[in-house]
Amino acid sequence: MRPKHLFSVRDISKEDMEGIFHLALSIENNPKDFAKICEGKILATLFFEPSTRTKLSFESAMLRLGGQILGFSSAKVSSAAKDESIADTIRMINSYAHIAVIRHFIEGIGEIAQKFATIPILSGGTGTQEHPTQALLDMYTIQKEFKKIENLNIGVMGDLLYGRTIPSLLYSLTKYDNVNVHLISPPALRIRKNVELRLQDAGFNYQMTENLKDVIDELDVLYVTRIQKERFPDPTDYERLKGAYHIKPEDMHNAKDNLIILHPLPRVGEIDYKIDEHKSSRYFQQAQNGVWVRMALILKFLDLG
Ligand code: NCD
Repeated sequence: MRPKHLFSVRDISKEDMEGIFHLALSIENNPKDFAKICEGKILATLFFEPSTRTKLSFESAMLRLGGQILGFSSAKVSSAAKDESIADTIRMINSYAHIAVIRHFIEGIGEIAQKFATIPILSGGTGTQEHPTQALLDMYTIQKEFKKIENLNIGVMGDLLYGRTIPSLLYSLTKYDNVNVHLISPPALRIRKNVELRLQDAGFNYQMTENLKDVIDELDVLYVTRIQKERFPDPTDYERLKGAYHIKPEDMHNAKDNLIILHPLPRVGEIDYKIDEHKSSRYFQQAQNGVWVRMALILKFLDLG
């Protein structure tokens, strides 16, 4: 891999992405061939914000590669609770592990890693900014389903303002030709201006709408996100917006036959449980794909793949 760390999908090229997908697919098809590659290597997971999938799938990935894991899952049980700086935490981890995943709320964490880390550091989600490894598994899932990403029509729905998976997914999509995106959200939860400017700079095709029903018949992919309760400065705004979307099987009547529904999870009401049985639902396969993609990422960033 060209970059040493991964904090933004903007730092990797389309070729890097395709290299990751190619390796992830080889791993998925022949996991036994990769079962010992990371013997003697340690992955640290430093999670200063809650996580289920990202932390566990990175740990599962390293264990499946024959490596070992250590880490913490809350700022409260690390020395952050004693006001240790993240720079000092990173300096320590250099000598405890060979590669680390950090989930942190501060935006400048990438620059701090750049300055103080001697081992590769991957973002496991940075505040509201980005979630690059999630975007890679999202893109891998789309690529596997359609055998392409070019020419697809993609609906991205929910909390586009605070959801960090959204900018990473959109920046990833800009690398492909002729992708069209419908940004579906209440006006108060539209993408941030700086994200929009980057999409415009890339000449990206996107439209904004409030209603899924206006665009559902055009979509190949519907990517749904949770309204991010913990990010709202004013809880009354969350209360007003939390029920904005709730997709039910009836809402799929005009959808294309091969539409797929993705969600980074966790869901909190935006996808009805009845959709789990619908032919379009792919969010649990998507989460499973996270293991293959994260195995590929560990190998690439350790220069082993
Ligand atoms: C996402 C996250 O943490 O940003 N979860 C995940 O990593 N799969 C999405 C979310 O919390 O809504």
